[in-house]
Amino acid sequence: MLRTKIAGIGTYVPEKVVTNDDLTKVMDTSDEWIRERTGIEERHYGAKHQETTTTMGCKAAEQAIEKAGIQKDEIDFIIFATLSPDYYFPGCGVLLQRELGITKTEVGALDIRNQCSGFIYGLSVADQFIKSGMYKNVLLVGSEMHSMGLDYTTQGRNVTVIFGDGAGAVVLQPTKEENKGILTTHLHSDGTYAEKLAMINPGSHGGYHFNKMGEEIDFGYPDIELGGIFMTRRMLEAEMLYPNMEGQAVFKIAVQKFPEVIMEALQATGLSVKDIDMLIPHQANLRISQFVQKRLGLSDDQVWNNIQKYGNTTAASIPIALGEAHASGAIKEGDLICLAAFGSGFTWGSALIRW
Ligand code: UT7
Repeated sequence: MLRTKIAGIGTYVPEKVVTNDDLTKVMDTSDEWIRERTGIEERHYGAKHQETTTTMGCKAAEQAIEKAGIQKDEIDFIIFATLSPDYYFPGCGVLLQRELGITKTEVGALDIRNQCSGFIYGLSVADQFIKSGMYKNVLLVGSEMHSMGLDYTTQGRNVTVIFGDGAGAVVLQPTKEENKGILTTHLHSDGTYAEKLAMINPGSHGGYHFNKMGEEIDFGYPDIELGGIFMTRRMLEAEMLYPNMEGQAVFKIAVQKFPEVIMEALQATGLSVKDIDMLIPHQANLRISQFVQKRLGLSDDQVWNNIQKYGNTTAASIPIALGEAHASGAIKEGDLICLAAFGSGFTWGSALIRW
């Protein structure tokens, strides 16, 4: 039976470290508040005007390709997951293809817009392509340059303190080895809560109809019969181009959905919690990971947490954590690895991998 294995992992975290104390210089927050509520101690920011989501993703991808022992022209498909793309369009997939110099083969490039669960969505898509025999080397990248799009005033503090920049990548290949590779993936969404964690502007909704909270407002613009208002001067003036999050609402559903989707994956494969060697949750909040750990009865060395150093890097958080855990020797041949994520959309998902 054909399965998908992770043949190489790469990670890239930019050099610049921003501590909680650094943030207190620009907004009303404190190291104590951030540590207590999120577990975050510091995060990294990409070099402004030098690095982008694509260039960071490219560095992680180059490592993953090297570790997989292949040449970049052997990649037959690219999947790029991010919520902080270089451009509104085209997506980062094609920019990565150019940056890597994969021009010879004109491979397909797909962009995934599933925020915190983007990596798991991408993994599931890649898994289908590989199991069907369509592709042999799929490059999956999760990369985020959040630091360029956050509100650094006190108004944005509930979101800004959480997020950091970074990238992770994997090369996925087919394997016929017995009981190895991706055993199962599970994807879910509930759009009822789309605006609970969202950046709604710019967008085809017409711009002036929604405020930061997703509530309808009227800026008194006349109706325009022809043409629309995708991004308005008023939007910029009202600083309505930042992400918005109702943290408590997200937290409440996250702590339900994480265990639920992990159990779903275990049930689908006839395994149980005690079979998990390492749970790598999306690094949303240390409190969420601790809640999930407790709910499942996992020990400290069965759960990988690194949000303390990087903050929440959205689509990059799972591949960065996976790369770190693997490099440290915490993941061994034959281990059962569980990946799980929840975030904006809401979307959530899980994957079980036999290493
Ligand atoms: O990966 C994407 C998915 N996202 C998540 O999973 C996030 C889930 N939610 C959370 O992690 C938490 O809700 C947060 C960390 C975002 C917020 O923690 P909280 O304990 O839910 O705080 P809160 O939003 O209820 O705010 C409590 C207070 C408020 O002040 P008042 O109204 O009680 O006076 C906030 O204004 O804390 C205030 N506050 C802050 N204070 C200092 C909010 N952000 C900050 C801040 N520094 N950065």
